[in-house]
Amino acid sequence: MADQQNPQLSGFIVERMELGVFAVDSSFNIVLWNHFMHTHSGKSWESLKGTNLFASFPELPESWLKRKIEHVFALGNYAFTSWEQRAYLFRFKHNRPITGGVDAMLQNCTFLPLRDAKGKVELVVITLQDCTDNALIQQRLAEAITVSDEERRKQQELIVKLEDAKNQLYQSEKLASIGQLAAGVAHEINNPIGFVNSNLGTLERNVTDLMKLMAVFESKETELPKDTQRELSKIKKEIDFEYLKEDLAALISESKEGLSHVRRIVSDLKDFSRVDQSGWQIADLEKCIDTTLNVVSNEIRYKATVVKEYGHPPLVECVPGQINQVLMNLVVNASQAFPERGQITLRTGEEGMYVWIEVEDNGIGIPPENQQRIFEPFFTTKPVGTGTGLGLSVCYNIIRKHEGDLIVRSEVGKGTCFRILLPIFHGKMGESEEIEFANSAPQ
Ligand SMILES: Nc1ncnc2c1ncn2[C@@H]1O[C@H](COP(=O)(O)OP(=O)(O)OP(=O)(O)O)[C@@H](O)[C@H]1O
Ligand SMILES: [Mg+2]
Repeated sequence: MADQQNPQLSGFIVERMELGVFAVDSSFNIVLWNHFMHTHSGKSWESLKGTNLFASFPELPESWLKRKIEHVFALGNYAFTSWEQRAYLFRFKHNRPITGGVDAMLQNCTFLPLRDAKGKVELVVITLQDCTDNALIQQRLAEAITVSDEERRKQQELIVKLEDAKNQLYQSEKLASIGQLAAGVAHEINNPIGFVNSNLGTLERNVTDLMKLMAVFESKETELPKDTQRELSKIKKEIDFEYLKEDLAALISESKEGLSHVRRIVSDLKDFSRVDQSGWQIADLEKCIDTTLNVVSNEIRYKATVVKEYGHPPLVECVPGQINQVLMNLVVNASQAFPERGQITLRTGEEGMYVWIEVEDNGIGIPPENQQRIFEPFFTTKPVGTGTGLGLSVCYNIIRKHEGDLIVRSEVGKGTCFRILLPIFHGKMGESEEIEFANSAPQ
């Protein structure tokens, strides 16, 4: 075709273009070899003219290339191979310094049948296109896609972590508002308790006075007319006066006892939530344990015996309301670890600049594979509806915020011991107690 147009111009273009062009006859002898091929192979047209392609270039993939060229001769079809299938035909150096894993010119090749006047394929023209730049761009693009996939994966992980953190925050806010509610109710109950207590005192005094008066009446009873005596004795029998006299005092003293119990619960509830004194304070951790035990006493009474082994460590700078939450979670977890009745031991002590608290039970224990996971939000082995699996992750966050540590030691069938370590000083007195929830579980 080129011959029919302007052979000189076509020849010029083939010579000058940035494309390798060469042609072979059916015996694989070279009949065309352009400037690009000369430059990159180091062999000139003059030296190659009429020579066998495979004799001149033994490094070529002979059997594959022969088959490819023979097909084009036989079928007269155009053929193509890309660098992705076969990186290169000739091992040429790339024009520019090559970076990365690419050390040779990557080539796309086309195989064009050239027919004689009778339509028979006379020659096969082969072109080589340098694709190294494209390949490098593609490689970088693939790397960029991998990086962006990795980024997306990390973002996804972050979203999950954020979701977990949000849920923990809800949980801790829920606990805090339950505490506030309890403290509010406790405060409201305080007033009626006050006047009932004072009324009980007055009632006790009045009853004692009345009894004194009754004793005098009784001593003078025989002096009354017989009819009146009979009537009085009938009424005394009806109301069981002898029993009533004894019972009145007992009733009053039982009521006073009950009332003092209510007062203690109310004061424990207030202490436990510490709404009236939130934030960083100097606190006695043994008192924290005592109030917490009083608050959860109903939950643990029928499941465990509580043993206290207090070492009287120094006071600690902490957010007491939050330490109470931690203790409550640990004690409730311990009480839920007994198939039947068990023992919960609470110990305290001092170690260097730290105070420690241990909550130990002789329950079912935690298998080693779960010990890695118990601080993860939502990890629970309890039946649906029983545990949310947030208790320990909230505990861990609170202790981390206190720059302390929460360590678990457990053996299946023997029991579990959680050890809380809290630094004695923080220098945060009076600050508010915002807790951040991020990266909750220990690594
Ligand atoms: N003292 C313990 N003995 C045995 N297993 C425990 C003990 N404490 C925690 N675990 C295990 O750790 C898991 C997670 O505890 P966590 O307090 O975080 O959640 P939970 O108790 O299941 O639910 P929630 O506290 O939200 O009601 C529990 O489900 C349990 O398997
Ligand atoms: Mg729990």
